[in-house]
Amino acid sequence: MSASRTPPAAVPRHVAIVMDGNGRWARRRFLPRFVGHEQGMQTLLRVLDDFAARGVEYLTVFAFSSENWKRPEEEVSGIMGLVLTGVAKYLRKLAAEGVRIRVVGDREGLSPKLRAAWDEAERSTAANTRIHLSVAFNYGGRWDVVQACRRACAEGLAPEQIDEAALASRMALAFAPDPDLFIRTGGEMRVSNFLLWQTAYAELYFSDCLWPDFGPQEVEAALAAYAGRERRFGGVRADESAPQGA
Ligand code: FPP
Repeated sequence: MSASRTPPAAVPRHVAIVMDGNGRWARRRFLPRFVGHEQGMQTLLRVLDDFAARGVEYLTVFAFSSENWKRPEEEVSGIMGLVLTGVAKYLRKLAAEGVRIRVVGDREGLSPKLRAAWDEAERSTAANTRIHLSVAFNYGGRWDVVQACRRACAEGLAPEQIDEAALASRMALAFAPDPDLFIRTGGEMRVSNFLLWQTAYAELYFSDCLWPDFGPQEVEAALAAYAGRERRFGGVRADESAPQGA
């Protein structure tokens, strides 16, 4: 096949990211960990644009896990404050750029101020369609499965009515296709209770790059790695599925 007939490389519809490495980025500069998170938010704003420009429709990021409450109080309140200043500072711009924001996670544990900020972010971007940014906040993959089960029970479903579709439609990301590409920065190779249900068939991509340093080149590298993967969803390899001698 000539180069001009090469089909366009596959672009993931949905990318999920564990934005790891903010603390180390700050420590290497003798700065408080919180500064790493501040920088991490700037990276998110940049990367969102890069992915949107490449045709990614959904970006879901892990901003605060159900387990992150165990961090020092100063760091936790720093991240909460970052949401408030982030919404005040960047929401109008994101809304104008066509970003639709959703927050997924347990809102019960959040302060009324924070809940109001997230509500405002969702409300003012509800009509946008360029890229769907879902911020997982006070989120855990196990929490998500449990809350979907609880909803099914509360709605009166009988045990025999509970199947994969019944739970999938009650999960926090029910509005989105499952993630195609799961990226974790910062060198660790763990899922860390992120989208446990939804990433059943996601392609995994681990980068040593610390999140604040994740730039256009790293975005390209992750998308190129994805384009080179063969997705089988439990089936056989493409080169084994052709009839013998074909
Ligand atoms: C993990 O790095 C990062 C977090 C727990 C927080 C991520 C938050 C942001 C990127 C900014 C906030 C964004 C929004 C949308 C509110 P780490 O602290 O575990 O880094 P380390 O492994 O180097 O210690």
